[in-house]
Order: sequence, then structure tokens, then C-alpha cells
Amino acid sequence: MKQQAASCLIYLLSIFMSTELTAGNQSQEAALERRVAELLARMTVAEKIGQMSQVNGADGAVTDELASALRAGKIGSILNEVNVDTVNELQRIAVEESRLGIPLLIGRDVIHGFRTVLPIPLGQAASFNPGLVEKGARMAALEAASRGVNWTFAPMIDVSRDPRWGRIAESLGEDPYLHGVLGAAMVRGFQGDDLAVPGTIAACAKHFAGYGASESGRDYNTTNIPEHELRNVYLRPFKAAVDAGVATLMASFSDLNGVPATANEFLMRQVLRDEWGFQGFVVSDWASIEQLSVHGITANDREAALAAVTAGINMEMATTTYADHVTGLLEEGRIDMTLIDEMVAGILRVKFALGLFENPYTDPSTLPAMANAEHLAIARETALQSLVLLENRDRTLPLDAGKLGSLAVIGPLADDPYEQLGTWIFDGDPSLSQTPLNAIRQHLGERVEVNYVKAMETSRSRSTEGFEKAVRAARAADAVVVFLGEESILSGETHSRADINLPGSQAELIAALRESGKPVIAVVMAGRPLTLGNIVDQVDALLFAWHPGTMGGPAIADVLFGVEPPSGKLPATFPLVVGQVPIYYAHKNTGRPPSPENFTHMDDIPVRAPQYSWGFGSFHLDAGYKPLYEFGYGLSYTRFEYSDIEVSHAEIGMDERFTVQAVVRNAGDVAADEVVQLYVRDLVANVTRPVKELKGFQRLRLKPGEESRVSFELGPDDLAFYGRDMTLITEPGEFDAWIGGSSEADLRTRFRLVRK
Ligand code: NOJ
Repeated sequence: MKQQAASCLIYLLSIFMSTELTAGNQSQEAALERRVAELLARMTVAEKIGQMSQVNGADGAVTDELASALRAGKIGSILNEVNVDTVNELQRIAVEESRLGIPLLIGRDVIHGFRTVLPIPLGQAASFNPGLVEKGARMAALEAASRGVNWTFAPMIDVSRDPRWGRIAESLGEDPYLHGVLGAAMVRGFQGDDLAVPGTIAACAKHFAGYGASESGRDYNTTNIPEHELRNVYLRPFKAAVDAGVATLMASFSDLNGVPATANEFLMRQVLRDEWGFQGFVVSDWASIEQLSVHGITANDREAALAAVTAGINMEMATTTYADHVTGLLEEGRIDMTLIDEMVAGILRVKFALGLFENPYTDPSTLPAMANAEHLAIARETALQSLVLLENRDRTLPLDAGKLGSLAVIGPLADDPYEQLGTWIFDGDPSLSQTPLNAIRQHLGERVEVNYVKAMETSRSRSTEGFEKAVRAARAADAVVVFLGEESILSGETHSRADINLPGSQAELIAALRESGKPVIAVVMAGRPLTLGNIVDQVDALLFAWHPGTMGGPAIADVLFGVEPPSGKLPATFPLVVGQVPIYYAHKNTGRPPSPENFTHMDDIPVRAPQYSWGFGSFHLDAGYKPLYEFGYGLSYTRFEYSDIEVSHAEIGMDERFTVQAVVRNAGDVAADEVVQLYVRDLVANVTRPVKELKGFQRLRLKPGEESRVSFELGPDDLAFYGRDMTLITEPGEFDAWIGGSSEADLRTRFRLVRK
């Protein structure tokens, strides 16, 4: 007991010494820490280990086993229980029938909406709209909270530069800055300003860290990421989430440079706690502590528990190595009670912050109804802003409904309320989905004949039996809209692909429809960037819709018929062929950068040409060096022109703030949104830096002919990077800056950072 009290005291002191808070916050924090310390001092070892244990719910049941474990204080959190009566009963047992009455964390994967489903996170990222993303998370939090959920396992902020990886769907794409901005927006949306307010839920930034770099895009695969790359790319979004006040983090399943994240002291201790001062807690991933022995980093469950707890994993998800071994490890003196107290304190802090001790129960009648009109409107707006127009030959789109006599709607994903929702939709309700077919019919009314032919049973079907009917419908129509892509099961956890073409015979379906001679508009719904090189010349327009969620249909119809121009931009590069992967805009220059001057396609190299008579460059002989569509790309129904880029001062002091500005003009005839993007390159640095890095973006609306001077404010911090000695530095020297509508923006200026 004495030891416990002393360890608490030391722990509290260290917290007081390391936090820099305003006076008001400080006293609030101090009060919170007092409550944590008081409770900790009353807890037995078994009760502490209980708080560190998370179990799966029992599908709405309160089993005897669960109830007696709760009474004994053996469970700190339950995941996957969303029956609100059951949740309230579980809370009641924990609060009223256990010795210390500690309430439960109820965790759930609320990844992109709850009952109302938003576009997949990768689609949300295409909106480049943090305000809207925040609203979506807020809406999801309210819906989830009405079921008793007080903790979501989101946002997933794993930078991913590999579209083969199924979980790219859950991520916010390839860019650390975009990830940071949107991830922080999600944290704010879930958590609000005060976690104790009903309807807010604790967020969980995952998967710490490096998961998105799994080799060959195979899920759970090894990652090898040099430390400066880890810090400059993969850790950045997590730092942004911690700065935004994220309550919890989840450890990645993956092996990082030889030490699985779940046992990785460098990540969990040095970076997260020591450098960033994180005060919340880290949960393992599902059984990832047990899996340490499968990785081969520990010999058995006891060693695995030791490795995880020593690294700083506060809570174990789904398995029981902590419950089974922590007491023994303490008795053997292999871990100290200080460590356990630290782990438990992190968990209690979040429970106190959530106000669970004051009110552990959920009364759904105090929260907005699920899928209410406002929620559906948020889902519709998010879907709308996520749509990326990739091709639009001869202004095929928008379709003029007034001039259409008939429209052929074809394809396996035109009218599938389930598939349009995407991966991770435990609580989504397909019966609420508004499909594209319905929305098109509604938009066109009785006057236009809509002829629907599914043509393929699923996106994977190989049969071409339905094609003839589809082609007949196409021939009889004025235009053809074909809905293709991937079913939701083809992306998400464990669902990686090595070939990222449209599956099944979908490319052949397009080729067949092409024969009709009618304009063919392809709408692709998918959980990842696909290689579309084989269809892009076969279609007149190509709209990428991700998995757009409950309100995908009306959003797509709005864009097809020009109610609203498309405005999404790609959050991840679309490769030409899968062999280019990883291909991303923020690559390094290499010593032999590719260029039109040094690249010759293999078809153009003469037979037996001498090896060294051709250009030297970093390219593929068969695929060149450019992707099909670059990061940040997306067309509109109007044209935006950029000009007059300038920096507020050509020489900038090392601690001065400055602006980069340009004029953007709507040069077309339709009012539309544009996502204006700022990229910067550090020309010479202590470690090689990317050829371009996104440093800012703004979505703005311009009327035809209207122009706006867009200004981005930066400081030297925004130009900082981790150098050779792994410290964050900003170096004097020259920088290029571009402002434009994609990562291939060519309007450039140069500025210099100087020690004044
Ligand atoms: C495993 C996944 O990796 C993680 O993201 C998820 O939150 C947990 N399972 C819980 O469902």
C-alpha cells in the first residue's frame, strides 16, 4: 500500500513538472489528477489489472460470466456492445455492484458514421474540407453515443502510399499534412470541447505507427521505415492528433523496424510520452499482445504481457495476457507497481474526463434521433464534396436533363444499397441508403425514360451474359451511365489486393457499351485508388465516387445533372499500373530524376541499342514515371486559372511569419468550389526532402469570372523537418512554393529563409 501511494506521488509530481498549462487548465488538471491518485490509492492489484482489460461484448446479452467479472472489477472496457439497454445494465453492474464502482469504457469502430453512413474516410479526405469532416465525426459521435458508446476506434491516420492495402479505405490517403489536418478535425468532431458533454465520445488515433507502410500492401505485413521517414511522414498525423487532444491511441499490429508496435518502447515511451507528453492511454489492437509471440519477439504470453506493459500499452484488447500474467510479473519483481499505476492512471483519466463517474448511463431520448434530416444532409454534402471528376471529354458532363429522352443506367453498383456503404459499417443501415438509380429516377421524373440493366451480378462476376441486354439498353438511350467498382468486401481490414484493376469483367462491359456509340459515363465506387488505365480511353466521362455512404445516390445525381459541380480532389495518387506502387507526389528527387528528355518508352528503343546510349533516369521503361492521376487532382465543370504568385517578403527571418499568395480565377461559366493547394520544396537540406510537400489548402467558391487572392500564412515551423540527428530543425536556405489545383501545379515562386 505504501509502495502504491509513493509511486502515485512520484507519478503525479512528474506530471506536474512536465505540463505547461494555463492557470485555469492547471487547476482543472490538478483536480483531475487528485481524483485519479485517490482512486488509484484505493485499488487492489486485481482491480488495476481489471482496468487494463477490455473484453468483447456478448451481442446484447449480460451473461453470468460478464456480470460476475464486472462485479469483481475485472473489466475496464467492453467493445462491440451497442444495445443501449445492455450497455446501461453493464454500467449499472460496474458502478453499483463492484467494490469501487468504476464505470466502463464502451468501445466501437465508429469509422465513417454510425447509423447514417458517411463516405469512407478516404472519400472524406477527397473533400479537403476539415469543417465538413468535423461535422461528420460529430454526427457519428451523437448517433453512437445514443447507443451507449463512449469511445470510438477512430480516426485511422495511417499514411498509406500503397493502394493495394485494403485499409487505405479507412485512411486519409498518402499525405501526412492532409492526414494531420483532417485527423485533428475528426478528433474535434468526436470529442467536442469537453468530453463530459453528453453526445461526445473519446477518439482513438490509430494505428500507432507505420501500419500503412506494410510491405507489398499485404495487411499486417512487416514495415521497415527509417527513423527520419517515420518522423517526417508517418508520425506527423499522430502528433497533430495528440496536439488536438486525442484521448487515446491504438497500437498497430505491425512490426516496425524489427520491434512490433505493441512492444515498441521507442514509439510508446520515447516519442509518445517523453517527447509529446501524451497523457491519455494506449490500447493494443485485437489480440496484438498475444501475437507478439507469433511475431517471434517474445516466447510466450507472460513475456508478451511483460513486453507490452513495459512499452506502455495501457489496455489489452480481447485477449487476457495482462489478466493472466501481470500479477505474477509483479510478484517476480519484473515490473514495478509504478508502471502499473501509470498504465491505470491513463485509463482513469479518460474515464473522469468523459464524466462517466458523474453519469455512466445513456438516455437516448436526450440525444438527437439517428439518421435525422440534419445527419442525412451532412452525409449528402460530404458525399458530394468527395466526388472526384477524373475525365470529362467534350464536356460530356453535366448531362442536360432537359435534353434527355432516355438514359441507360447500367452496372452492378447502380442500385446496391449495401455496397455503396463501404467497409466498417457495423451499425450502418442499408435500408436508409439512397442508391444512384433511385436518385437518378427521382431527379429525372417521369419525363425521361430510365432503363436499368444490372449486367453483372457483382463487381467480381466474370460472366458476360448480361452484356447483350445492357448494350441494347445503351443503344436505345441518349446516354449511358455505368456504375462499376469494387464491392465493399474488397477493401478494409485483411482485404488487400495485388491487382487493382476493376475486378471481374467490368472492363469488358465498358468496352461493350462503347460499341453502342452513345456517350458513356462511368461512375466508379471503390475503397481504394484503382488502375483505370484500361478503361480511361473507353469512356467519355469518369467520376470517382469511393464508397459514398448512405446519401451517395443523390450526391452523384447532383453532379451528373449539374445541380452542383464536382469539387473533390484525390487524396492519393492513382497509378497507371500497379507495378509503379509505391508512387506518390512527395517523392525524393533522386540523383537522376526522370524527365521527358531522358525517358524513352521501351517500344521506342531500337532492337540491340547499346545499353548506355539511352537516357539515364529513374523511370520504368514500360510505364514511365507519371501516375495516371496525381495527388490533389480533380476536374470541375469550370476552369480555374492561377496567376500572380508571390511571397510576402523574399527574405524571411528564421522566426518570422510570412504569406504565400496567388490569384485564382473562375475562368468558366459555372459557379464552383476549388480546392486551392500550396506546395513547398526545401531545395537543399540536411536530409533529402520531397520534391513537393503540401503545406496548406483552402476550399473556396467562385462565381463565373470571379477571382480571389488566396493567402497562406506559414511560419518557420511549417518548414521544419527531422534531420540526420533526429531533431526537428528548420534550416536557412532557398525554398520553392507552388499554388495551384493539384500537386502538379506549375505556378511557382522562390523565397529564402535567412538568419537575420
Ligand atoms: C482490429 C483493427 O485493426 C482495429 O482497427 C479495430 O479498431 C479493432 N480490430 C477493433 O475492432
